[in-house]
Order: sequence, then structure tokens, then C-alpha cells
Amino acid sequence: MLRFDIVTIFPDFFREAFDYGIIRRARTAELVEIKAHDLRAWATDKHHSVDDRPFGGGDGMVFKPEPVFAAVGALTGTSERVDYQAETRVVLLSPQGRVFTQELAQDFASSARQIVLICGRYEGVDERVVEALVTDEVSIGDYVLSGGEPAALVVIDAIVRLLPGALGSETSAEHESFSEGLLDYPHYTRPPELRGLKVPDVLLTGNHAEIARWRREKALEKTRRNRPDLLK
Ligand code: 6GU
Repeated sequence: MLRFDIVTIFPDFFREAFDYGIIRRARTAELVEIKAHDLRAWATDKHHSVDDRPFGGGDGMVFKPEPVFAAVGALTGTSERVDYQAETRVVLLSPQGRVFTQELAQDFASSARQIVLICGRYEGVDERVVEALVTDEVSIGDYVLSGGEPAALVVIDAIVRLLPGALGSETSAEHESFSEGLLDYPHYTRPPELRGLKVPDVLLTGNHAEIARWRREKALEKTRRNRPDLLK
């Protein structure tokens, strides 16, 4: 069983997010448990504040360290990174992180038993959180989100579907897009002709060797056109 603990100032953002499709099935099958926690519950001052103005000046507010230390301490049993259990990861979602990839998703899926996801806000989190608590600082791509919450959804989805048993017997994550270093090939279903648009003949032949060759070729073509960086 893999457990996700999301630390956020917007726990309601996640209210129905995990109630659909593969994630719902994985939760029902007790492959995974996902809880969103309100960072404000660990605020120490009387106004329950979780952010403050940056030392050195500048725009925006920064998450105060104390509530995050208290949250991680409560959720993992310690607020010293060296004392985490080997299967515990504490992830800070931030645009300064290393880019989340299928490989990192696979690493989390195969080695973690608890993943704490700290949803940062765009302006930032006190860096002592990174220095003392965080095992992985992760970004989901080269664009700016206003907070880490949408990124947490992305990361959880990508990991859960890789858990053994999550996809069901009819599908496997082994041969899909990215795991082979290429984009997926094009898919077609009935009808064989729609508004003059035909399904490629080879797919109707039943010749499995020919079909495999065609799919490899189309996967290459699509990768060359949309993601030439993957071929380098
Ligand atoms: Cl994880 N957080 C924010 N705020 N922006 C991002 C991101 C994360 N990943 C890409 N952009």
C-alpha cells in the first residue's frame, strides 16, 4: 500500500479529484491511500498564518517554515530528513524542481510507501524546508502555475497507474508512450470510413507483423514531428 499525504492551503481543491477512473479503482482495491491536509492546521500563531514577507524584500509572500516542519513531523514521525524511513519521500512541488518524468514516476511507484507532497505557492517556500525536509524538489514542466496543487494531481496520477494491479489485466504500462522513448502510434476504431476519412488499410489486414512495422514507423514520424528532442 502506497500512501500520499498532500500538504496544501487548499485541501478542498482535491475534494473529488481522486474519485474517477484508475485512481478510484486503485483506492477501492487498497493499492493506494490519498489524503489532503490543510497546512493551516499546523500554524502556530494566533492568526493561523502560513506565509510572511520575504527577507531582503521583493514581491509576494513566502511560506513560513514552522507549519511545514510541523506538518512533515506529524505525517512522517520526524522532521529530520536523515530519520525518514527508507521508503518515505518528501516532495516539494515547485517550478525550481527537477522536471518530473516517466522515469521518476516509475522510481516513486516501485520504491515508495509514503509520499508527502508539499504544494508550494509560486512566490516560494522558505528554503530551510528544502534544506532539512525535502527529498525531491519536483516541477512538472517549463511553465508557471500559481500553486503546486495541479502539479500534485499530475504526479499522483502518473504514479498510481504504475502500481502493480492498478491498470487491470487488459492493459499494461510496459509498452506505452515514453516507457519506450517514443510517442504512441495513432489509433483507430470503427467505422472504417468517416466523412471520406479512411482507416489505414494495413490495420484491417490482420497481418500482425505488417501492423507492428506500420505502428513503429508512425510512432517515429509523430515523435520526429512533435518531440524531436526525444530522438536525440
Ligand atoms: Cl510543481 N509548481 C508551480 N507553482 N509551477 C510549476 C510547477 C510546480 N511545475 C511547473 N510549473
